[in-house]
Amino acid sequence: MNVPDPAAGSFTKVASEADVPPNTLLSVEVGDIKVCLANADGQIYAFKDNCTHRDFPLSEGDIEDGTIECTWHGARFEMATGRATRLPAIKPVQTFEVRVENGDILIAIDD
Ligand code: FES
Repeated sequence: MNVPDPAAGSFTKVASEADVPPNTLLSVEVGDIKVCLANADGQIYAFKDNCTHRDFPLSEGDIEDGTIECTWHGARFEMATGRATRLPAIKPVQTFEVRVENGDILIAIDD
C-alpha cells in the first residue's frame, strides 16, 4: 500500500544533478521565480536568484566558503540560511529546501 508523504507534494524538480557540477551555479525558473542552484563541493543549495541589494543575478556570482558573493558590489549571503554576511546587502535572500533524489534536484517552492 502506498502511503502518501505529506511533504512530497511541495517539492518540484528543477534540474538534474548533472546540470550543476561541483562549484558551479545554475539559474532556473519556477513559475515567476528565478532560483539560483549552487553546488558547493557536492552540497546543493537553492536561493532566489536576486541579490537583495540591487537585484543582480546571484547565479553570476562566486561560491566562497559556504557563501555566495554577488559580483556587482561584493555582497555575500550564507547559502544555507540566506543571511547577508557582507555589505552592501542587509536583507537576507530567500532560500528553498533542497532534496536530491535519483539524480534529480527538487526544491520546496510554491509557484
Ligand atoms: S547588486 Fe549585489 S551587491 Fe549590489
